[in-house]
Amino acid sequence: MSETTPKGLTRLAFGGDYNPEQWPESVWAEDVRLMREAGVTMVSVGIFSWALLEPARGVHDFGWLDRLLDLLHENGVRADLGTPTVAPPAWFYREHPEALPVAADGTRYAFGSRGAICHSNADYRAAAAAVTTELATRYGDHPALALWHVHNEYGVPVSACYCESCAAHFRRWLARTYGTVDAVNEAWGTAFWGQRYADFEQIEPPRLTPTVGNPGQALDYKRFADATMRENFTAERDILHRLAPGIPVTTNFMTALSQCETVDYWAWGREVDLVSNDHYLITDGRRTHVNLAMAADLTRSVAGGAPWLLLEHSTSGVNWQARNPAKAPGQMARNSLAHVARGSEGAMFFQWRQSRRGAEKFHSAMVPHAGTDSRVWREVVELGASVEALAPVRGTRTVADAALLWDWHSWWAQTLPWRPSEDHDARERADAFYEALYDRHVTVDFAHPEADLSAYPLVVVPALYLMTEAAALNVRAYVENGGTLVVSYFSGIVDEYDAVHDGAYPGALRDVLGLTVEEFSPLLKDDRVRLTGPDGAELCGDVWSEFVVERGAETVYRYADGLAAGRPAVTRHRFGAGTAWYVSTRLGVQGLDAVLGLAAGDAGTAPCAELPRDVEVVRRTGEAGTFVFAVNHTASDAEVPLETPGAELLTGERAAGSLAVPAGAVRVVRLDG
Ligand code: GLA
Ligand code: ZN
Repeated sequence: MSETTPKGLTRLAFGGDYNPEQWPESVWAEDVRLMREAGVTMVSVGIFSWALLEPARGVHDFGWLDRLLDLLHENGVRADLGTPTVAPPAWFYREHPEALPVAADGTRYAFGSRGAICHSNADYRAAAAAVTTELATRYGDHPALALWHVHNEYGVPVSACYCESCAAHFRRWLARTYGTVDAVNEAWGTAFWGQRYADFEQIEPPRLTPTVGNPGQALDYKRFADATMRENFTAERDILHRLAPGIPVTTNFMTALSQCETVDYWAWGREVDLVSNDHYLITDGRRTHVNLAMAADLTRSVAGGAPWLLLEHSTSGVNWQARNPAKAPGQMARNSLAHVARGSEGAMFFQWRQSRRGAEKFHSAMVPHAGTDSRVWREVVELGASVEALAPVRGTRTVADAALLWDWHSWWAQTLPWRPSEDHDARERADAFYEALYDRHVTVDFAHPEADLSAYPLVVVPALYLMTEAAALNVRAYVENGGTLVVSYFSGIVDEYDAVHDGAYPGALRDVLGLTVEEFSPLLKDDRVRLTGPDGAELCGDVWSEFVVERGAETVYRYADGLAAGRPAVTRHRFGAGTAWYVSTRLGVQGLDAVLGLAAGDAGTAPCAELPRDVEVVRRTGEAGTFVFAVNHTASDAEVPLETPGAELLTGERAAGSLAVPAGAVRVVRLDG
């Protein structure tokens, strides 16, 4: 068994990416002094340092890193040490230009940023293994070492490479996965448009084609890219385990649903010792704390419910969006502690000291350009004290009330072209279902469609287009045994090869839902449909409608206009001991809330009506006790009911009956007993 918590870390992790190589060593002394002032417990170092550590092939310069790790150790700061394999040096590319990745249109990327890697390239693999071996040998028993940080954010900025080495590797992967070329032909349906292959040698990556390529091939290429990156991760991990036993290995994920197109985090979660995540607010005007909560819940779920670590977020604005607003006063602490509420064992940032040069000099940091006489620094110091006070939550687990089924493969399949409507977006449906649950103060676990669901009174299924036979049986058993299921349109349509399940839609779900769908009828842009329901209630849908035929289900809402007028729109089906709801159009968050309210009646779960909107209440529980986290995202003071009295950890005050949470503040109560 590998270790799963950073070695020697006795508190929650607080710190950030630390890039001292960008600064003269005279600045380092000030850095560690400020780290102590802020209560920093761990920093991530060396992530992009390959060119400094190995300035020419086989020539190493470890002196600066030796001095740095010693300095951190002397100051009680633990080190999360990077393997620098996301940033091979210029000399490496001069020797191996074919290690630069190739885009689908055949363009080869150039050196000069980071992450320019063909993961199939044998020279890259050998060089990555060599530098990892050097680091593990030299630092494996360094007293500062707490955690290995392999690579950086696999899957970005290049999600897949389309070069000749990848073509050959893809053929080997197909041969391993399918055995025979005929099995590939069958899976991809190559009878269509005359795409039949007589030999694996004839198969190419899904490069630029005159019109839409084969969807099965495109989907498998994403699986291949994912598996290939994972081969490289596990190769580094195994070296580190062998040479530095007792030090856990992580790599920073980006579970927020919009970024990684070829990373199946369910699979990655099983390979790391400690799941860690990077999260940045997407400041497009939405309620950013909802997406943050979702990313945190998804990360915890990828970790199987175990504690995980927020490895990067920002103290204030980022620099890579179109507009990069600063965080409001108090927002950083709310962000950080909301992650902790949802299972993170700390709050780490990108980055410690704001760079003066390079592409990220306008990205906020813990020590900003403005220096320590600044709002950001004062809030960082304050947050450090809060994080220190929360040490007792270590090892406890967040308690969830419902599950949301999520599968990266299904999302990938829905991003392929030539679908019924380009306005349908699987991630948007997951966001909307999540937001509706968030507004009902329901804490959500994400679950793989084949995972055990029996613990959840309620399971929601937003646009799970791709469902395997096993997933269909799993969901069916869940409802049969008494569960309550709420399913969105465009779920259960195809199998893992993107082939439509036999018979009427939705093949994987029609018995459990008690209905069939004769035809999809997506709406034109900006068109809406009205739905009428119980006691004259009305809802409004857009993007999608379809022709539903009841086959056992009862109609709860009916289309009042549009091509589906008069037909079922929202249905409910008693199946075994449980109930399955179906929503055949795109409802907004409020429309989903109405359906979830009805389904909650079946599930026997009552919403926490006493809690105001945007006052987030989450529990962590374990041997150390039960902790109630309350994050007030509003501008008004709030009261959160408490079932038992307890001690508030950030103020030291007692709380009984209810907990006062001032506007914009966070409170954490450890319940007595
Ligand atoms: C990512 C990277 C970091 C940095 C931040 C900036 O998460 O891992 O190196 O570029 O983004 O937001
Ligand atoms: Zn390649």
